[in-house]
Amino acid sequence: MRPFVAEDIDAYRRWLQPDQDWHRWDGPYFAKLDAGQIDAACARLATGLADGSYAAHSPLQRAVIAAAEDPATILGTVSWHWESQASDWRRMGLTVYDPVLRGRGIGTAALHIWTDYLFRTTDAVRLDYSTWSGNERMLAVGRRLGFTEEARFRDAREVRGERYDSVVMGVLRREWEDREREAATS
Ligand SMILES: CC(C)(COP(=O)(O)OP(=O)(O)OC[C@H]1O[C@@H](n2cnc3c(N)ncnc32)[C@H](O)[C@@H]1OP(=O)(O)O)[C@@H](O)C(=O)NCCC(=O)NCCS
Repeated sequence: MRPFVAEDIDAYRRWLQPDQDWHRWDGPYFAKLDAGQIDAACARLATGLADGSYAAHSPLQRAVIAAAEDPATILGTVSWHWESQASDWRRMGLTVYDPVLRGRGIGTAALHIWTDYLFRTTDAVRLDYSTWSGNERMLAVGRRLGFTEEARFRDAREVRGERYDSVVMGVLRREWEDREREAATS
């Protein structure tokens, strides 16, 4: 994982296009950004990189998933948004863009690093993400990292003509820290 840099904008713009496969899995029930909204998102990021406000934001609002041996190539992104700022409740997002790269452990590694980063740089007592029951990879990532299924809204989502559950997976700071401590000593 690394911060965005200005050189990422063109690749980021390509991955945001509505015909990219990842949109079929990442909130397929939400509207895709149209061309104008993609331009606006890229312009906002470019401005934030140029004026330093992106880097000044702690924690970073979004970051790039990249391999150590090829840091320039965007494999995906991680992000977070407020679910409730009043109670420091943040919801994370995670995407590995290229379908060829999925199922190789990249998402698990990225969510591990992102969760760790957010707990280290904030006072959050919990972190979570929201997905749907048809996204088995995303559910498996959370389970492997010790997240708990905290909410399941049965049949709440419709994807490609089928009904699925909406699922929220979450982890408490103390659970995360205990798990990390155990991993470090075993
Ligand atoms: C969801 C996503 C981030 C997961 O990242 P990833 O790199 O593919 O995940 P990993 O390889 O680390 O782990 C995938 C898990 O799913 C399992 N898996 C792999 N292929 C699978 C399949 N076809 N069906 C079900 N599970 C599968 C793997 O066995 C692994 O589980 P395990 O850790 O218990 O072995 C990634 O697939 C992705 O970006 N998908 C498209 C966008 C998206 O769905 N984003 C999430 C929005 S909520």
